Amino acid sequence: MEFSIKTLSPETAKVGCVVVGVYEGGELTAAARRVDQASKGALKKALRDISGKTGSTLLLRALPGVAAERVLLVGLSEKSVAESAYRDAVRAGANALKELGAKDAALFLVDMKVGNRPVSWNVRHAVAGIRDAFYRFDQLKSQKKSPAPALQQVVLPLSPRAELTQALKEALATADGTALARTLGNLPPNICTPAYLANEAKKLAREFKLELDVLERKDMEKLGMGALLAVARGAHQPPKLIVIQYKGASKKRPLAFVGKGVTFDTGGISLKPAGEMDEMKFDMSGAGAVLGAIRALAGMRAPVNVVGIIPATENMPGGQATRPGDIATSLSGQTVEILNTDAEGRLILCDALTYAARFNPEKVLDIATLTGACVVALGHVASGLFANDQKLADEVRAAADDAWDRVWQLPLWEDYQEGLRSNFADFANVGGRPGGAITAACFLARFTRKLRWAHLDVAGTAWKGGREKGSTGRPVPLLVRFALRHAGWK
Ligand code: BES
Ligand code: MN
Ligand code: ZN
Repeated sequence: MEFSIKTLSPETAKVGCVVVGVYEGGELTAAARRVDQASKGALKKALRDISGKTGSTLLLRALPGVAAERVLLVGLSEKSVAESAYRDAVRAGANALKELGAKDAALFLVDMKVGNRPVSWNVRHAVAGIRDAFYRFDQLKSQKKSPAPALQQVVLPLSPRAELTQALKEALATADGTALARTLGNLPPNICTPAYLANEAKKLAREFKLELDVLERKDMEKLGMGALLAVARGAHQPPKLIVIQYKGASKKRPLAFVGKGVTFDTGGISLKPAGEMDEMKFDMSGAGAVLGAIRALAGMRAPVNVVGIIPATENMPGGQATRPGDIATSLSGQTVEILNTDAEGRLILCDALTYAARFNPEKVLDIATLTGACVVALGHVASGLFANDQKLADEVRAAADDAWDRVWQLPLWEDYQEGLRSNFADFANVGGRPGGAITAACFLARFTRKLRWAHLDVAGTAWKGGREKGSTGRPVPLLVRFALRHAGWK
């Protein structure tokens, strides 16, 4: 699908479908008014068939005086449209467009006022919404259920300006990165193994000329990554530590993105219950997000340096697997009593975070489907944010709001460290049930004292369960926006 920005009028645009907005109560947007005038009131007459609530749609065909074959009305609820309503309206419009035979469409929703956002924000989120709605994952179905949508061209009817072209470029690259993360998340765990992730990194490295280093089990042994290796012990699939570097700026300290890559989390000897265990294929979503973000930044040639570090392994039970009570020596030298083998994410991340320090990163973000407790705390709307530097936390939150890939900060107070005490090692890998997302973050904090570091717990946001089960590609939009703002973009 192609997107372009050009000046168009809704009544004379020669496209398969013109998309215009209507508010609840029947008031029309400026573009809708022009269609109404050109068609001598045909639009107003049709209004009784659409509520105007966000997400409601109505398709009109062959209106007299209108060049486009179809006019799609989309409800916007109130006149002062908020971010969520705009995104929902775009999504509703995109879903309706999917069903049409139209080859091209013009989205007149982009010129409306959304909160106090600039038009470039509308451009970014229009592209994100449409690309998201058109995403498909049917490569493993023997019979394709529905034919591919006909829509090929989407025009964003605005007068072209440099900042809008820039926003479009960013949005398209971000959509590519998000789609990559989604697909990696959706792939089954028998296909998306640590080796598969490493190979995916290799493909990116080739396509975008990135530096790639994949550490094998023996390399991890040599380095002393005892925590990562403790998790990998039970797995037959060999673990990988993927290090991928995008250099878009000369001589600047890099950002480090560290992503949890557990390609299947059974819990290990602390085995998970059988119900919905399949969903633990999404436990590599942090890894997918890191690859997706790097793909996006490299794809748009963003002026930043980023190193992506992905500890990738399965977490399996077995005769070789780590036992509850085993003590591992991490790369940092600190010893960990592994009281619960299902708290494996923090074990692989702690060694990856220690390794990240080698790159002298300016800021470090880790991304992990780390705790069920975070899902209990924040549901599926906000990712959990933790940081050992408040300025960095504020930067991440601002980027998240901008990307509408939202986060909510939770405390990292020393008081919570108490939960991790151990009688036998430096500390344990689990605290009690209370504040589970926080004690997990506290564990990581013990490995990042010398870094400016933030942790994103995306257990509730990186994928959806139930009927709409699948990866969301979050937080790729946040990571990309964060990196661009770091590079000084608006
Ligand atoms: N991958 C899980 C976290 C998770 C749970 C993500 C549910 C998405 C949905 C993680 O490895 C895990 O098992 N965490 C445990 C930690 C506990 C043993 C302290 C959890 O959350 O139950
Ligand atoms: Mn686990
Ligand atoms: Zn896990």
